[in-house]
Amino acid sequence: MALPRDAAIVILTGAGISAESGLRTFRDADGLWENHRVEEVATPEAFHRDPALVHRFYNERRQSLATVQPNAAHLALARLERAWAGPFLLVTQNVDDLHDRAGSRQLLHMHGELVRGRCLGCGAIHPWPGDMDQASRCPTCQTGRMRPHIVWFGELPLDLDRIYDAVERCDLFVAIGTSGHVYPAAGLVQAAAPGARTVELNLQPSRVASAFQEARTGRATDLVPAFVEELLGG
Ligand code: OAD
Repeated sequence: MALPRDAAIVILTGAGISAESGLRTFRDADGLWENHRVEEVATPEAFHRDPALVHRFYNERRQSLATVQPNAAHLALARLERAWAGPFLLVTQNVDDLHDRAGSRQLLHMHGELVRGRCLGCGAIHPWPGDMDQASRCPTCQTGRMRPHIVWFGELPLDLDRIYDAVERCDLFVAIGTSGHVYPAAGLVQAAAPGARTVELNLQPSRVASAFQEARTGRATDLVPAFVEELLGG
């Protein structure tokens, strides 16, 4: 497929890209929300009501990062970023750090990051590789309690201005491993410029597959490296 090397690319990823690394997705059969009601763990109200439960949930998620590695799909996107001459932005809904560890740098975590904490007092954001609990205090102001740096339901995703700006200008928009259930991420394809090429790579057609010009089905570790090779003319 011919795309000029200075074309602008935006890639959106979801839990499906990390599935083959061993991290559960949210809505597949063994998905995370099956064991926990969203309202119990992923809302500001839940944190207010039972911070210990919410900390435990995210501590488990954070601990699980130590047992997984980036897969061929994460690595292919990092390679694309390095090789691409034009503007490139990777937007992920994933709170894992597998894109970071694969080497992606033009990367925005629109739903936050497990490996960071945010101060409820001064708002400072800090690297947080270990467990967090109610006794955790902010390294900046020393007094504020910490919360996971995760966007909960009812909260606004991060970096939306930068994301929309890039999507509206892009020549190619690709969504990978996301079910299209959660907005605004699921609606980004609609924001792409009228002339932009739009492609979905997913195990099965997502809820918004019809909004894309092209939808390919299969495993991310097969589809993504092959797609990157096409773009790089390999
Ligand atoms: P979902 O669990 O909703 O969807 C995962 C998608 O990945 C599904 O469409 C699967 O078909 C697909 N999939 C599974 N395995 C795959 C594989 N090996 N290769 C390719 N695709 C595969 O996850 P998300 O769409 O990322 O938000 O969910 C969006 C948001 O919902 C999450 O960021 C999270 C959740 O609530 C917050 O926590 C704020």
